[in-house]
Amino acid sequence: MRSNRFTLAVCILCLGIWCCGQAYNTEEAAPMEKAEQAALYSAIQGFVGNWWNGSDLYPDPCGGLWYITALSIGPFYENSLACATNVEFRPQLFQLKHLKSLSFFNCFISLRHPITIPGDKWEKLAGSLQSIEFRSNPGLIGQVPTSFGYLKKLQSLVLLENGLTGQVPTNIGNLTNLNRLVLAGNRFTGRIPDSFGRLKKLLILDLSRNSLSGHLPLGLGGLASLLKFDLSNNQLKGKLFARNAYLKNLTLLDVRNNKFSGGLNQPILDMHSLEELMLSCNPLGGDIMRLDWQSLQSLVVLDLSNVGLKGEIPESLSGLKRLRYLGLGNNNLAGNPPPKLASLPNLNALYLNGNNLTGVLKFSEIFYGKMGKRFGAWNNPELCYPIGSMTRRNAPYGVKPCQRGVTLLDPNSGAKLGDGNLNNNSHFVASLGFSSNGIHGLRQLILVDTSITVLLLNLFL
Ligand SMILES: *[C@@H]1O[C@H](CO)[C@@H](O)[C@H](O)[C@H]1NC(C)=O
Ligand SMILES: *[C@@H]1O[C@H](CO)[C@@H](O)[C@H](O)[C@H]1NC(C)=O
Ligand SMILES: *[C@@H]1O[C@H](CO)[C@@H](O)[C@H](O)[C@H]1NC(C)=O
Ligand SMILES: *[C@@H]1O[C@H](CO)[C@@H](O)[C@H](O)[C@H]1NC(C)=O
Ligand SMILES: *[C@@H]1O[C@H](CO)[C@@H](O)[C@H](O)[C@H]1NC(C)=O
Repeated sequence: MRSNRFTLAVCILCLGIWCCGQAYNTEEAAPMEKAEQAALYSAIQGFVGNWWNGSDLYPDPCGGLWYITALSIGPFYENSLACATNVEFRPQLFQLKHLKSLSFFNCFISLRHPITIPGDKWEKLAGSLQSIEFRSNPGLIGQVPTSFGYLKKLQSLVLLENGLTGQVPTNIGNLTNLNRLVLAGNRFTGRIPDSFGRLKKLLILDLSRNSLSGHLPLGLGGLASLLKFDLSNNQLKGKLFARNAYLKNLTLLDVRNNKFSGGLNQPILDMHSLEELMLSCNPLGGDIMRLDWQSLQSLVVLDLSNVGLKGEIPESLSGLKRLRYLGLGNNNLAGNPPPKLASLPNLNALYLNGNNLTGVLKFSEIFYGKMGKRFGAWNNPELCYPIGSMTRRNAPYGVKPCQRGVTLLDPNSGAKLGDGNLNNNSHFVASLGFSSNGIHGLRQLILVDTSITVLLLNLFL
């Protein structure tokens, strides 16, 4: 037999212990030592309770002969054992010298009896451990032990949605074999360590949903193999990337809800593989017209809402043929939206609301019909749509029909104007700030003047 490696889930038990013949040939396949077996039992009892006697392991699909290489604790499967309420890390855990993967899911859940990750002994697992995962453990509090820095073989460190606090230890940057580092959804504070710039093999770096602050370490721009980079929902500030950033393989960059400033810069436009660029809710500023969007041909999602953009919407955006979502809402954009945007073959959401766009919207009725509420242009006081050109049920939500005079702003539009009666009412709609009040506004309006009810129902329902 060329390889006698086998992997079996002990699913009768559903602690999810995986056994794996470690040996590279049959002769070397050594039985698990009695001591290690005892350590395993004790370690597991620490998590599920002392009542557990391992009887569920028999008949042991691993024949009781093989080392434990993966231990998954928690309700991974429907019939898994729950963790005990007085769950504890026993020192025996660190005697499982063949452990490659250690996972805890929804195990430390009691907020009244919170628990911390043991601080020492991790170096004992340094020879084998390749993956650590703590996921959805709200009762797991305290800091990340600095001794994680000894786990030189670690390829994946996932600390997702726990109650961890404090600074991210600098020596995580020593784990240069990491290809996945996820610290999202905890309460980490302080800066992102400069040492992260040494994690050159990273494919996924997710630090989202914490309270990280300060500037981005320059070194992050050199993580050339990164595919996904998520910093969203922190308090990070300063420029996004320096000139030397080289993230050519990045497909996702999400920095939503931070305090980044200094405009959209060239390094981002050099990330030619980007499919999702989400920058919304940052005081970035800058003139969107100045940028060469053609270099981002892979973009599928472009979210630039609420980033303080000024200038007009560049027609060049209509060259991003894969675009499905374009969010430009809540900026200071001016001018008339380029009708060519409607030619984007895959576009299914376009948000231009909350700007200072002016003139006549020149998209076709078919376009509005296709987009429905996923076309947003409300809260642009100087923007209107040409009424004569479409049925009202397809009219863009929250945009007023053009009055006779409005076309003067845009002599090239060629838009047909509707009749005067509607203009009277539409003016009324706009002046009540209808769009921002949504349906409640509608009800109010109906109470104010029943004579225009029919019109409004046509418009918005
Ligand atoms: C182990 O525990 C199971 C269930 O809790 C019980 O039925 C069984 O008798 C125990 N076996 C031993 C050897 O204690
Ligand atoms: C981690 O790297 C730093 C240098 O960046 C070094 O001083 C430290 O001893 C290393 N720590 C471990 C645990 O290897
Ligand atoms: C980027 O991706 C290409 C294609 O998948 C790959 O060949 C290359 O090694 C990657 N670059 C880095 C720095 O990882
Ligand atoms: C909106 O645009 C108009 C005309 O271009 C200009 O007069 C006005 O000051 C702008 N308003 C804001 C809030 O920028
Ligand atoms: C607006 O409505 C009033 C009556 O409410 C009417 O006298 C006036 O001619 C209307 N204006 C236009 C432009 O239709």
